[in-house]
Amino acid sequence: MKKNENIVWHNNKVSAEDRRRVLGQKGLVVWFTGLSGSGKSTIAVELEKLLNEAGRAVYLLDGDNIRHGINADLGFTDEDRNENIRRISEIAALFCDAGIITLVSFISPFRKMREFARERAGDENFIEVYVSTDFETCRQRDPKGLYQKDISHFTGKDSSYEEPLHPEIVLETVSCDPTQCAEIVREEINRREVESV
Ligand code: ADX
Repeated sequence: MKKNENIVWHNNKVSAEDRRRVLGQKGLVVWFTGLSGSGKSTIAVELEKLLNEAGRAVYLLDGDNIRHGINADLGFTDEDRNENIRRISEIAALFCDAGIITLVSFISPFRKMREFARERAGDENFIEVYVSTDFETCRQRDPKGLYQKDISHFTGKDSSYEEPLHPEIVLETVSCDPTQCAEIVREEINRREVESV
C-alpha cells in the first residue's frame, strides 16, 4: 500500500513496557489457522474463557464475527481474503501493543499473509496455532452446513489452503478435544509470559 509522505509518526510518552506494568502482563497474538469447521473458534472460545478466569486480559477476534462489522465489505476471493487478513493483522498488532492476549481465529489460508501478521505483531509476540483437521473430517462435521452448499471460492474446494510450515503449535482435533487443545495453547502462553519477565 502506498504511504502518504505528509503523514508523520507521532511518538507517545507511554511505552508497551509502561502498559505492561499497569496490566501485569504482556500482549501476545495467538493466531489460529485452519479450514472452516476445523475447530479453531471452538478452541479459541475455550481458551478465552480459561484465560479470563485466570485473570488475564484476553480478547478473541473471530473471522465470522469480524466479517459482520469492520470487514463486512469483503468476500472470499484471494484478494478479499488478503485484505481481510491484512486488516486483522493490524488490529491484532494494536491489541497486542495495548497489552492484551489477542486470540485470532481466521482461516487465513495464505502463508504470505500469516507471515505478514507475524511481522506486524513481532515474532517474539506471535504464536501460530495450526488446527490441523483434514478436509474430509471438516466436510463430515460441517457445523454450519456450508460444505453441503455449492459455495464458490470455498476453502479446500476451489480455493486453496496453504498449510503452515513452521507453526509453534499443531493441534490434532481428531485425537484431542477442544478443552485439551485449549490447555496445550495455554501452556505455551504461560511459558512465553514467564520467559519474558
Ligand atoms: S479467510 O479465508 O478470509 O481467513 P474467514 O476466517 O474470515 O476466512 O471466514 C471464514 C468463515 O466464513 C468460515 O468459517 C465460514 O463460516 C464462512 N464462509 C463463507 N463463505 C466461505 C468460503 N467461500 N470459504 C470459506 N469460508 C466461508
